[in-house]
Amino acid sequence: NQTILKAFRSAFLDFVGDPFYQTAEESVRYIPDGLMIVENGKIKAFGSYEHLQPQYPNLEPISYPEKLIVPGLIDLHIHYPQTEMIASDSNQLLDWLEKYTFLTESKFKDPEYCRQIAEFFLDELLGNGTTTAVVLAAVFPQSVDAFFEAANARNLRMIAGKVMMDRQAPEYLLDTAKSSYEDSQQLIEKWHKKDRLLYAVTPRFAITSTPDQLQFAGKLLEEYPDVYLHTHLSENLNEIKFVAELFPDSLDYLQVYERFGLVGKRSIFAHGIHLSDSEFQRLSEHDSTIAFCPTSNLFLGSGLFKLHQAKSREYPVGVGLATDVGGGTSFSLLQTAGEAYKVTHLQGQNLSGFQALFLATLGAANALSLDDKIGNFEPGKEADFVVFDGQATPVLNLRNRGKIPPKTLEELADFLLTLIMLGDDRAASETYILGERLGRKHQNY
Ligand code: GUN
Ligand code: ZN
Repeated sequence: NQTILKAFRSAFLDFVGDPFYQTAEESVRYIPDGLMIVENGKIKAFGSYEHLQPQYPNLEPISYPEKLIVPGLIDLHIHYPQTEMIASDSNQLLDWLEKYTFLTESKFKDPEYCRQIAEFFLDELLGNGTTTAVVLAAVFPQSVDAFFEAANARNLRMIAGKVMMDRQAPEYLLDTAKSSYEDSQQLIEKWHKKDRLLYAVTPRFAITSTPDQLQFAGKLLEEYPDVYLHTHLSENLNEIKFVAELFPDSLDYLQVYERFGLVGKRSIFAHGIHLSDSEFQRLSEHDSTIAFCPTSNLFLGSGLFKLHQAKSREYPVGVGLATDVGGGTSFSLLQTAGEAYKVTHLQGQNLSGFQALFLATLGAANALSLDDKIGNFEPGKEADFVVFDGQATPVLNLRNRGKIPPKTLEELADFLLTLIMLGDDRAASETYILGERLGRKHQNY
């Protein structure tokens, strides 16, 4: 077993604490001239070039002067089958689901189509610097197989699951409570913890699952306590009204999921736009996570997520950023962070560039209980990272000229906000998986 050592030299930014609760000085780690040593895909050492280089005198680093390396970005909620229908006009969520979503997802019966879209989707993630995502497949088990096969061929750390839905959708897209249980079980046995892959039990949302199906979802979580639960929660007012009609015994939307044992530490709920104080408090007590999807919430007219309430000191809830493509309008977590900034601003709150980047790196890794593996550059973690170019476009170049690399935390904060507001996949100039460069392929498009 041969040891492969690599070294990377650049400016590095990651987090060692939570910038919502700690100062930038305490939570941000910035090394303007840093060195990262990678051994067999894992970080072996990380520090300033000056201090670390003498220990590796014969190792020629791959050098990115005037760039910024950050941990691989994490997208907490995205639908790979909706790639092709991004940016489709509608009259909010339920209309959008009926008009486009169900029809598009029906195409995932065909494994060859699944394979093509999975490849395109992963190219797009990597092209944007996203190295881990929590992904909904379609209702068909073969859509999960195709996704995990494509992800595994690239050595990616990905979380995904088969959508469970047994009512309130066209017949051709429905499973049954029992078949969804059996299919999910087989997929868990096949894929969960295979290499870097992890499984999420994925009832679409309360509307499309009978109580029977939600009960089976709870049974899966009991039988496989380390898989995730991934679904939608309290996104749209008409959705919430319909849930109340379908589950008249539940006091609120979250209680529907609570009653079936679906709310826990490994549960990820997309949106949470219209949560009550009680629901926020219970999510905090259950140690659950909300995926904040600002481009989707604005595009579908769902509303403004109360990030400040989720990050309150009294009842903190885990939060990460998510694109929610195809309800979301961009694969870029930079653009998503930019929209998150605007959503918080509209509510009279502030979101610093550090806080936004935290939500797409260590914050998301914490929420997924994957902070022993990804999220920052601590030695022992997996070497997934992005090389950002703050001069990638004419405007970025004009705005940042003479300022790269930033020298102080203040200059870095300013630079980071330019990346977030003005950057997209053009700014994500290289993406590395386990220390290997993985470019965008896009051969067929
Ligand atoms: N709620 C149920 N299904 C979906 C979906 O596909 N997208 C969004 N944004 N919300 C949903
Ligand atoms: Zn979604």
